[in-house]
Amino acid sequence: MITRKLWLYGILVGVVALSGCDKSVSEKDKKENPDMTMKKESFGQTPEGEEVSIFTLVNTNGIKARIIDYGATLVSLEVPDRDGKLADIVLGFDSPDGYTGKDCPYFGATIGRYANRIARGKFTLDEVDYKLAVNNGENHLHGGVKGFDKVMWKGRQLQTDEAVDLEFTYISKDGEEGYPGNLSCTVIYSLTNNNELKINYKAQTDKPTVVNLTNHSYFNLAGAGNGDILGHELTINADRFTPVDKGLIPTGELRSVENSPMDFRKPMTIDSRIDQVPGGYDHNYVLNTSGDTTVLAARASEPTSGRVIEVYTTEPGVQLYSGNFLDGSITGKSGKVYKKHYGFCLETQHFPDSPNKPNFPSVVLRPGETYTTITIYKFW
Ligand code: GAL
Repeated sequence: MITRKLWLYGILVGVVALSGCDKSVSEKDKKENPDMTMKKESFGQTPEGEEVSIFTLVNTNGIKARIIDYGATLVSLEVPDRDGKLADIVLGFDSPDGYTGKDCPYFGATIGRYANRIARGKFTLDEVDYKLAVNNGENHLHGGVKGFDKVMWKGRQLQTDEAVDLEFTYISKDGEEGYPGNLSCTVIYSLTNNNELKINYKAQTDKPTVVNLTNHSYFNLAGAGNGDILGHELTINADRFTPVDKGLIPTGELRSVENSPMDFRKPMTIDSRIDQVPGGYDHNYVLNTSGDTTVLAARASEPTSGRVIEVYTTEPGVQLYSGNFLDGSITGKSGKVYKKHYGFCLETQHFPDSPNKPNFPSVVLRPGETYTTITIYKFW
């Protein structure tokens, strides 16, 4: 009798535990979003009067991604917590002016032609010197004054059985921001029923050039604007990182993270050692596996909501940026003020200043080649 009672109790505990782990969307949210869908609506206009469209992708679990053609920018991403309650977990704005303004810190945008910094905005390729736009002290940052985050992309819906895909294309002209070659770029956002938002980047050029594309989403798994991200637990699959000088340009060294606040090989909260990092985290990690296959780059979890994000990529690096320059001067979606450390970025990329660092993996793209990279954000 006692054994039978224990057995029944075991089943009960198991069922409760399993339902506690079930992070699918609550029945109510599911009914409102029965199928994988996509719709296109107006998001308003740029100051120049250009129409901005917003595309809404919803998967069968109710995860919802909203993306605009301006900057091919991820505007919102609604993901369930441990009880199935949705929250928007990326920082951003409710209308185009936030994104078109010069103070926008790249919220959710596609970054190019070269994500991160190029020292003094200069590089030499095939013995030709190139001078890029300088927009960060003496350096070039995130593609220059008018990077890929500040241009209009052409959006198109693609429907497949497994996913709802959204394709953006943009042709960056020869000489734009100082870069050589007409570069034709494609970014495909794909929301799957496995709760993944995949971003597929492709580019081709008609002259030798350099390319490094990424997405600049600021995540807060407790919900955008709901406090800082310091309590998030983070793991980064990297034994080494690229130390930087005062201007955040890598010195060229690949340094071990061992015995330093840079070590996230075991889960650690972001705040556990941030005080030992002058200015906060803003560093490129050298991922342990790289090449053409997709590897787990990083994982972050937020204890109060139970939300978890995993980032997979084919890129050799990831920039951990802990929202150090957010200072409360930006009011974002739903009137929420974004203060210091209110979001973190995991920007998958080639290493900063690679065009000037022969020992870093190459970022050169030549005519006839196709640049292809994939980054996946997976939610649990
Ligand atoms: C990050 C970069 C930071 C800062 C930020 C935008 O990608 O690493 O240094 O420039 O973008 O404010």
